[in-house]
Amino acid sequence: MTSITITRPDDWHLHLRDGEPLRAVLPHTAKQFARAIIMPNLRPAIITVEMALAYRARILAAFPAALQSTFEPLMILYLTDNTAPAEIVRAKESGAIHGVKLYPSGATTNSGAGVTDIAKCYATLAAMEWNDLPLLVHGEVTDPDVDVFDREKVFIDRILAPLTRRFPGLRIVFEHVTTRDAVQFVTEASSNIAATITAHHLLLNRNAIFQSGIRPHHYCLPVLKRETHRQALLAAATGGNSKFFLGTDSAPHGQASKENACGCAGIFTAHAAIELYATAFEQAGALNKLEAFASFHGADFYCLPRNTSSITLKKESWIIPEQYDFAGEPLIPLFAGTSLSWKLV
Ligand code: NCD
Ligand code: ZN
Repeated sequence: MTSITITRPDDWHLHLRDGEPLRAVLPHTAKQFARAIIMPNLRPAIITVEMALAYRARILAAFPAALQSTFEPLMILYLTDNTAPAEIVRAKESGAIHGVKLYPSGATTNSGAGVTDIAKCYATLAAMEWNDLPLLVHGEVTDPDVDVFDREKVFIDRILAPLTRRFPGLRIVFEHVTTRDAVQFVTEASSNIAATITAHHLLLNRNAIFQSGIRPHHYCLPVLKRETHRQALLAAATGGNSKFFLGTDSAPHGQASKENACGCAGIFTAHAAIELYATAFEQAGALNKLEAFASFHGADFYCLPRNTSSITLKKESWIIPEQYDFAGEPLIPLFAGTSLSWKLV
């Protein structure tokens, strides 16, 4: 195959940051995706409808005027111990807020304002179930006694499975699943439970973090897992099951915060997101499954119309730049300086 044309995709999990960094990364996403679910883990976190709408306006203002109508940010509220049920009603009524994100406090970047005990959120989760506003979960426990590589599996057992029993009508997106256990849980759960899968978890296993030295640009959360898990993710993404859809979790950090004695978690993939997914799907012999995963399943789950325009990828080798500009700092993209064989036209 020398080219493929698919319905324009959406990114159902994206970190855009704010201010100058936002301006630096937004064009990468907007050139390929029609819409994106915008993660609310700014500092301060986006915990009210008012903050989400102001953030949305800043994203739209970051576009050149001519491009504004081509990309739609889908806003998400950041769940805290104190999010009031009334805020959920306001979020639903806004029409611009499409879900609420659960970060277990301390699980990842800017999760300090996150939930310390899920029981504190039951009334708010009930309001979400009632108003049909989806819950997006960062599915890792933070218990320091739990091995880093087991935190997703333990989260399913301790938090997620009980939550789906308590709130059977609540729609939940299990974000950036990384394990066979998560794939199995989502597959067997009700139709209210779906999952996003990143390109980097489809392309890399945990050996990539230690390839002839420590590789900070391969460090993200949830951390990369072993090959058997990558294989399970690939099977889920390419299997045609509408519960699984594209979410890049592209998470930019400047070079100095990544190449650091205590480096930040996050992999920047927006520079070549759809090409990276195409590479993974091609390796699995399933390019014909890319469109549904990238362009249909997510829109259907979020009850939004599918996009009508299209994009084309050409089989053409190109070299990923060594770095991009990130508000005056270098931003090192995934696979910097290496070649990719699919190119967005
Ligand atoms: C994300 C970030 O940097 O905001 N980092 C990451 O490794 N994925 C946060 C997150 O989604 O966990
Ligand atoms: Zn994320």
